Amino acid sequence: MSSARAVDRSRLEGLVARELEQFAEANPRSQDLFERARGTLLGGVPMSWMARWAGGFPLFLGEASGARIVDADGHEYVDLCLGDTGAMAGHSPAATVAAVAEQAARGVTAMLPSEDAISAAEELTRRFGLRGWQFTLSATDANRFSIRLAREITERPKILVFDYCYHGTVDETFATLDGDRVVARPGNVGPPVDVSLTTKVVQWNDADALERALALSDVACVLAEPALTNIGIVLPQPGFHDTLRELTRRTGTLLIIDETHTFSGGPGGCTAAWGLEPDVLTIGKAIGGGVPAGAYGVSDEVAARIAAREDADYEDVGGIGGTLAGNALSLAAVRATLTEVLTEEAFGRMIPLAARFAAGVADVIEDAGLPWHVTELGARAEYRFSATPPRNGAESAALGDEELERFLHLYSLNRGVLITPFHNMALMSPATSEADVDRHTAVFTEAVRDLLG
Ligand SMILES: Cc1ncc(COP(=O)(O)O)c(C=O)c1O
Repeated sequence: MSSARAVDRSRLEGLVARELEQFAEANPRSQDLFERARGTLLGGVPMSWMARWAGGFPLFLGEASGARIVDADGHEYVDLCLGDTGAMAGHSPAATVAAVAEQAARGVTAMLPSEDAISAAEELTRRFGLRGWQFTLSATDANRFSIRLAREITERPKILVFDYCYHGTVDETFATLDGDRVVARPGNVGPPVDVSLTTKVVQWNDADALERALALSDVACVLAEPALTNIGIVLPQPGFHDTLRELTRRTGTLLIIDETHTFSGGPGGCTAAWGLEPDVLTIGKAIGGGVPAGAYGVSDEVAARIAAREDADYEDVGGIGGTLAGNALSLAAVRATLTEVLTEEAFGRMIPLAARFAAGVADVIEDAGLPWHVTELGARAEYRFSATPPRNGAESAALGDEELERFLHLYSLNRGVLITPFHNMALMSPATSEADVDRHTAVFTEAVRDLLG
């Protein structure tokens, strides 16, 4: 059943108007800053998606620490958004701040490797099992370079992604299905080529379609998250990852697993938690404790195949690089964040907090008799507007309800809780407490009560 049947739409409209008014009244300084910003920043924000917060203008940052944000008007929030994973380590964790401060005073970037690069790579190997790491400034770049390497060593033209995936601003991935046809995602900005030339798309959890798509052996790599996370969380069905691995191996297709969001699954992401065996693993966001850093690691076999391509220009203008990639500051942040903040012990506290969040939300949903559900993925949890979980990206996309999401986001914002825009997602950090989670549950209870009247 869709939310549309459970929720009185005119009541919802009235509630959104009320919450918008309250938001504007409570945030005069953020609104003034936004007006000023419109003079020199395109759309009034330093990056376009920041304009998409539910209040019509963004809250400007005052300061952030641990699981708390204070906005420019001085309101304090329990932050369950955590920079859409960039701050999963908590805001400005002490160990990362100390390592960054120390490194910043001793040289930020120098075109020379630092010892921290080795420590960071050793820690990634310990967690994810792959050797052969490279560092980038973002998860997007880690994916981009991995795709290039896959095409280079397989000498195959195409990649395969799952419908409604998101892997950063990677040209080849902005593809979706229109029936059986691969077409550009709606709104794709200035695509370089027709995406059907570069990309095959399959529905998540559709093993038969995957088998058909890989059968021609023209796919260099499958790029996949362990679970879809950017169209709501869509978990793999039992056995799907085994099939994915078996089919990719059988057809000589490389498997790139993107752990950028699913790092929430545990210290070694879902790769370690679920025993996945990627050829290449990509990650970003949280690993630097908020400092820009991404990474990709390759299997020994892939490393040997990379080395064997003697004509490939990996070092200069071959399409893989970034002057500031692997800089000493980012690597100090990664080393400290992994070894001292996002530790096994921290995940041991974060994952039960997400379970507490999910249980609280599920109780409210059940008591209200709403046809909604909540899904967990390690330290993250998300509620959706259907009685049962979607099986793939297309089903998940169909559950979107902008007005309802806007209401729930605004309601939370106005009551001191931040959840991730574009999702109904909550993420736990090592600094998040049970009281923070319960605060959300209380606000969610009130929101549902108001919604149903
Ligand atoms: C799974 C996944 N991979 C990669 C990225 C890209 O990360 P970034 O924008 O930091 O490059 C994202 C961003 O949301 C993501 O969700």
